[in-house]
Amino acid sequence: MELILGIESSCDETGVALYHTERGLLAHVLHSQIAMHNEYGGVVPELASRDHVRYVLPLIREVAAQADCQLADIDAIAYTQGPGLSGALLVGAGVACSLAYSLNIPALGIHHLEGHLLSPLLSKPAPDFPFIALLVSGGHTQLMRVDGVGRYTLLGETLDDAAGEAFDKSAKLLGLNYPGGAELSQLAKRGTSGRFKFPRPMLHSGDLNFSFSGLKTAVLTASKQNALDEQTRADIACAAQEAIVDVLATKAMTALKQSGLKQLVVAGGVGANQLLRKQLSTSAKNIGCQVFYPDLEFCTDNGAMIAFAGALRLQQQDAKRDYRFNVKPRWDLQELNLE
Ligand code: KG4
Ligand code: ZN
Repeated sequence: MELILGIESSCDETGVALYHTERGLLAHVLHSQIAMHNEYGGVVPELASRDHVRYVLPLIREVAAQADCQLADIDAIAYTQGPGLSGALLVGAGVACSLAYSLNIPALGIHHLEGHLLSPLLSKPAPDFPFIALLVSGGHTQLMRVDGVGRYTLLGETLDDAAGEAFDKSAKLLGLNYPGGAELSQLAKRGTSGRFKFPRPMLHSGDLNFSFSGLKTAVLTASKQNALDEQTRADIACAAQEAIVDVLATKAMTALKQSGLKQLVVAGGVGANQLLRKQLSTSAKNIGCQVFYPDLEFCTDNGAMIAFAGALRLQQQDAKRDYRFNVKPRWDLQELNLE
């Protein structure tokens, strides 16, 4: 029976949570920096680090108050060790390791993507191992086979832009705010399907890799060749969304068929996209498979997934009381399997 504090600070969200191995998630809080980065059209790493510094301690106090816990009740601290922005990661790692040192409890460095891959188990209904995970965020687009904690196989990934990046870059070209995925999908609702048709790169490549960088060129060309009135913007948004969703859904189905697994889990911010959800659910049903959509608050970056991954890791490995830390801005998830 253990209480784990989780700290996520890999990019533009400070997330803190308390997870109890018997009582489940006790509380989780989040501070998003989106509004701050919006005026720059993307994440500014230095501003991100400073904002994590500003929020991480107040959020730890807040989560403890919400869960009615004292710092002394905590048995271990899990933090995102990578991948992500180095300055941002260092804030979470520094706070986690010094707090753990002062409380004389273990500190655990967690792989951000492991957090995402295990996060579906926080929602109900939860999938059982093994399952296929489609990880679609602003930074990642991957298809993984998840056989258990620490047993991950990369099946395919993007060779260039992430799916969320493709949404965001298309949105920017259409004059929408950053990050533009959600706004683009709103605009697309008023669009006429079929007026524009954008390429679906690697749809028939035979593997499970993706490529999205060509899409922004297609969107740029369409926006230059046409007067950008409201209807045309909506029609372009509609075509861009259809192209991204089509590729994601087709490859996810191929992964299910090739692996013979029956469960697909969608994680990451793009998992909020309604068209993607509709297309995945319909296609999966046709081949006798089930799709799990974790609650949106666990799909996007959050502290709960880090606390939870920390709890599962604690059951597996001896927790060391070693408070020296390094962060891993680049970190291949497959390395975890070997450790
Ligand atoms: O997982 P996430 O919150 O953060 C990381 O990138 O780690 O994902 C953010 C991404 C952004 O690119 C955002 O535009 C996209 O998710 N997104 C969406 C939608 N909501 C968020 N993309 C398409 N449709 C949406 N409804
Ligand atoms: Zn993430």
